[in-house]
Amino acid sequence: MKEAFLKACRGFKTDYTPVWFMRQAGRYMPEYQKIRQKYDFLTMCKTPEIAAEVTIQPVKILGVDAAILFSDILIPLEGMGIKIEFIEDKGPQVSPTIRASSHLENLKEIEIEAVDYVFNAIKILVRELHVPLIGFSASPFTLATYVIEGSSSKEFINTKRFMFSEPAGFHKLMEIFTKATLKYLTEQIRAGVHAIQIFDTWAGILSPFDYEIFVKPYVKKIIDNIKNVPVIYFCSNTSGLANHLNDLNANVLSIDWRIDIKDAVNIFKSYSLQGNLDPLTLLGTEEEIFQRVERILIDGKRAKSHIFNLGHGVNINTRVEVLKKLVDFIHEFKFTGV
Ligand code: CP3
Repeated sequence: MKEAFLKACRGFKTDYTPVWFMRQAGRYMPEYQKIRQKYDFLTMCKTPEIAAEVTIQPVKILGVDAAILFSDILIPLEGMGIKIEFIEDKGPQVSPTIRASSHLENLKEIEIEAVDYVFNAIKILVRELHVPLIGFSASPFTLATYVIEGSSSKEFINTKRFMFSEPAGFHKLMEIFTKATLKYLTEQIRAGVHAIQIFDTWAGILSPFDYEIFVKPYVKKIIDNIKNVPVIYFCSNTSGLANHLNDLNANVLSIDWRIDIKDAVNIFKSYSLQGNLDPLTLLGTEEEIFQRVERILIDGKRAKSHIFNLGHGVNINTRVEVLKKLVDFIHEFKFTGV
């Protein structure tokens, strides 16, 4: 198996910078679209052979150093009595919503057999892949935002109303999701994933004070209880949360483009860093793209170790050719004088 990605996850320097992309499987890719025309997104997630095939596509087509399981952060809700749907142009829809302590009775402990298809896809993939496989979950907080809002949100009014009007009930919700997430990730590890990424996409909407109260203890509990595989923590607004992130003890911190990687290297000394190109840079000219990529590679070299990625998922308008060129550029980059 190609080792650079896992070596970098473990904090060791590598001969070249390993690279993969969040949302590397998806609608920007004609090969994905071909399958997607026949099946809806949830059916693809729930059919292990299809999920496996789509997971492998970017490894074959782009030559990335790691695969990420094709699934979604909302999938574990299916084992907890919550219905999820993905509606074209509207994104995910979740029901019933949990917006108050009195709604908590609608949430069941996770029944892991209900999402067996996830572990079956992983088992196929560990047999077929020649690169490491990344499993994932949301953080309890990011998962909660969908269950509270019922869909994607901009202002998270219901989330904050629940949090600040019934903090004890909100903590109970975090405890339920922490337990479910640990069980879900443990099963993924048992099925064979080589690393775990925790998506805390929306942690950055909170003040650092509230991150410490409502997010950090639960993320920490999950990270502390994951054994045997490296953990990548993806979060936005990392500079505002620096003090808290530094004692989370994940192996890798995935940063977005709002922080200069040069600053991140100084602030997050104990971390391997993953990131941090703005995905929309890839809609620009090659000159603009590679100028930024080169900077990230050179500055990333000073981190404990560096895995190249975007600061968020691949945008649907990205051309496959651009990503291919990017992977080759990163693999062939010579760090002269660094
Ligand atoms: O990264 C990968 O290639 C692995 C698969 C993956 C998906 N979603 C596939 C997907 C992963 C790791 C996710 C995580 C996820 N899902 C997050 C965290 C990361 C992030 O983007 O911040 C979040 C917030 C979700 C929730 C979600 N799923 C939303 C908001 C949407 C709609 C947005 C959109 O692009 O339509 C989804 C749908 C989704 N998840 C698609 C894919 C490939 C598009 C499905 C399709 O119509 O084909």
